[in-house]
Amino acid sequence: MAILPIIETPDPRLKTVSTPVETIDDALRSFIQDMFDTMYDASGIGLAAIQVGLPKRILVIDLQDKDPETGAVVRAPHVFINPEVIKESEEVSVYSEGCLSVPDQYADVARPAVIKARWQDAQGKAHEAEFDGLMATCLQHEMDHLEGVLFIDHLSKLKRDMVLKKLAKARKMDA
Ligand code: NI
Repeated sequence: MAILPIIETPDPRLKTVSTPVETIDDALRSFIQDMFDTMYDASGIGLAAIQVGLPKRILVIDLQDKDPETGAVVRAPHVFINPEVIKESEEVSVYSEGCLSVPDQYADVARPAVIKARWQDAQGKAHEAEFDGLMATCLQHEMDHLEGVLFIDHLSKLKRDMVLKKLAKARKMDA
C-alpha cells in the first residue's frame, strides 16, 4: 500500500494526453492498488493515473455510496483501463464537480446524462456497459484527464478564473 502524491493545477503534466496501456501485469495491478489507496486517502471518488504522474489510460472510481439503512460507506471499486465512450445521450445532466487536482473547488458542469463505454479490467478482460447519474459524470470527468482536460476547462473563462483565484487564496491561507 502506498499513498502517492497528487499533482495539482497548474502543473503542466495535467495537460498530458495519456497513452494506451499495452501490458496489464502484476506491476500495473500494484500501481492500481496504490491509485485506490491514494483516492480513498484524499476522500475522492475518482482518480486518473496522470494525477499521480503516470501518463497511461487508467482510471479508478468508487462512488462510496452510503448504505441507506446503516449510513455506512459501501465501497464499490471500479478500474477502467483504456476506456472509450462509444455512445452518449443528447440529454445532459449538471453536477457540481470537484477534482483532487483542483482541491476544494467546485463548479457546475453539464455532460451527457447517459453514456455507453468500453474498457478493460485489471485482468485485461474487455467490458461494455451503460452508465447514468453520478457514475456517468464521474467516468466522463476522469476520461477527460486522459486527454489533459480538467473540469474547469469546461467553464467560461470568467468562471474558471474565479475558481483559480479562490484556489490561490485558499493555498495562501494554508501556507
Ligand atoms: Ni479530476
